[in-house]
Amino acid sequence: MKFASVILATFAGVACAFAPSTPAFSRSSALYSAVEDEVTTGPVAAGSIDRSLSGTDSSLSYDAFDPTSGDSPALKRNNADEVWVSQRARPRRNRKSAAVRGMVRENIVTPANFIYPLFIHEEDFNTEIPSMPGCERHSLPNMLKEVGEAYDLGVKTFVLFPKVPDELKTNLGVEAYNPDGIVHRAIRMIKEAYPDSVVCTDVALDPYSDQGHDGVVEDGKILNDVTINQLCKQAVSQARAGADVVAPSDMMDGRVGAIRDALDAEGFTDVSILAYTAKYASAYYGPFRDALDSHPGFGDKKTYQQDPANGREALIEAALDAAEGADMLMVKPGMPYLDIIRRLKDATPLPVAAYHVSGEYAMIKAACEKGWLEEKDVVLETLTCFKRAGADIILTYYAKQAAQWIKDDGLY
Ligand code: PBG
Repeated sequence: MKFASVILATFAGVACAFAPSTPAFSRSSALYSAVEDEVTTGPVAAGSIDRSLSGTDSSLSYDAFDPTSGDSPALKRNNADEVWVSQRARPRRNRKSAAVRGMVRENIVTPANFIYPLFIHEEDFNTEIPSMPGCERHSLPNMLKEVGEAYDLGVKTFVLFPKVPDELKTNLGVEAYNPDGIVHRAIRMIKEAYPDSVVCTDVALDPYSDQGHDGVVEDGKILNDVTINQLCKQAVSQARAGADVVAPSDMMDGRVGAIRDALDAEGFTDVSILAYTAKYASAYYGPFRDALDSHPGFGDKKTYQQDPANGREALIEAALDAAEGADMLMVKPGMPYLDIIRRLKDATPLPVAAYHVSGEYAMIKAACEKGWLEEKDVVLETLTCFKRAGADIILTYYAKQAAQWIKDDGLY
């Protein structure tokens, strides 16, 4: 009732102002509002419009263009004398209400799509990561608590990243396969408490390297095959601790095949490989390296990670990883590389993962802290766009928070 009287009052004003020469209401406002959910749910921003628009400009001191008149009218008039674009296909019909939009929606993101990366350290307290507000390096007990909270929200897959004390770092990264290393203990804790969770591990030497590189260094070069030898030991040790998925992020050539063979030879035929297939030498990893204190000791990672300028190269990596036995292929970073996600999706039937990396997280956080972006909306949009681009799986520091939002809003 209240709504109707507002409409009528507003209509009266509009009617006077436009002095319509034809009946103003050729459709009832009730019907109109029923198809425009913005109008029924939001504040009434404007009243009804006389759709003939006759006389609209009659009080102007100049001659306004009338698109419906002249020898070549741009617009027509329908049987009710309303201005009319004779357009049959109107894509807006499929967007006209939340229910219709929901019916035709192509992609939805659910907590089951997420992999939640967790930073861990040997301390018995959490430490904030200044360049990643809201993310912390967890003590092992707090990590387990975080896992439990995410698990209850439907996020069941995790990937672990350790901050390793300097005194344990060596060029050969030996600590990477210590069966009592922090990652190994963390895997056991999670699998014991949540046997149905999926625990992923990072296979690369950088957190354990005194050189700050993903591989073994000799004379300033990163050795491919020697590194793979170490990675095989690391992957097998993680599988022995209970890892469900190993994720080589090192970008050495041939590592997926070697790790597959090493796992199989040790009886771990069920342990999956999530290959960092197209991992770019990106400036977006800065906050992650802050979190783990794993900035390269010298140079950069451009001799093993891909050149951001290249797209086709990702297809070479994808073909190799698939042939070598990868179960899932990852693109990293995410947002600036949506084209690569799509190209991999079109090129392979394997599931594709996208890593929404630390720098992307930091950018959104910083803009939201300034009040420049609306965090929930921008995050859920971003994650949905990963799916649209072709990602089946999304690694994101927002996993738990997004799952909470999805639940709160009843989106899934
Ligand atoms: C290292 C590794 C990196 C990330 C995941 N694994 C950093 C790097 O390659 O230097 C980055 C993740 C992120 O930025 O969120 N093997």
